[in-house]
Amino acid sequence: MILRAATLDDVPAVLAFWKIAAEDTNRSDIPEGVAALIARDPAALQLAVADGEIVGSLIAGFDGWRCHLYRFAVHPDRRRQGIGAQLLAAAEERFRGFGGRRADAMVLNDNTLAHHAWAAAGYASQDDCHRWVKSL
Ligand SMILES: CC(C)(COP(=O)(O)OP(=O)(O)OC[C@H]1O[C@@H](n2cnc3c(N)ncnc32)[C@H](O)[C@@H]1OP(=O)(O)O)[C@@H](O)C(=O)NCCC(=O)NCCS
Repeated sequence: MILRAATLDDVPAVLAFWKIAAEDTNRSDIPEGVAALIARDPAALQLAVADGEIVGSLIAGFDGWRCHLYRFAVHPDRRRQGIGAQLLAAAEERFRGFGGRRADAMVLNDNTLAHHAWAAAGYASQDDCHRWVKSL
């Protein structure tokens, strides 16, 4: 298995992968959105690839101020093999390279599966605030 940055050629496969591996598979990710991410920050979307197939993903976005993690997902058949931990370690290394001091992720309250993985990597829930959102 290797970790590598996604390219524009990967976009359809990434979207198909998220449909089976990511939480909230009903979300409306679109090819243009993934392509825009790759164009803006070519190393942000990291893929774990084995035998030419995507088995894991993580977006490690640095906006100049904070370090944000999205689309943390491992193929259902490949979980508990350390792939998620490797993706997180690589993302944190990237953030350190930018001088980032704290990484965060949006995690659904009832996604207990993910809670285990985040906690194992040293992340803790911040209960004194909520995300405030507005669709643009
Ligand atoms: C969360 C997810 C990405 C973790 O990926 P993974 O490759 O299975 O994680 P790892 O194998 O690296 O696990 C690292 C550690 O996390 C903990 N962990 C992971 N899954 C666990 C589980 N189901 N139960 C208990 N602990 C778990 C363990 O401590 C594990 O270390 P160990 O296997 O040595 O005990 C994967 O479960 C997944 O894709 N879930 C669905 C999508 C999702 O919910 N993503 C998170 C969105 S916020």
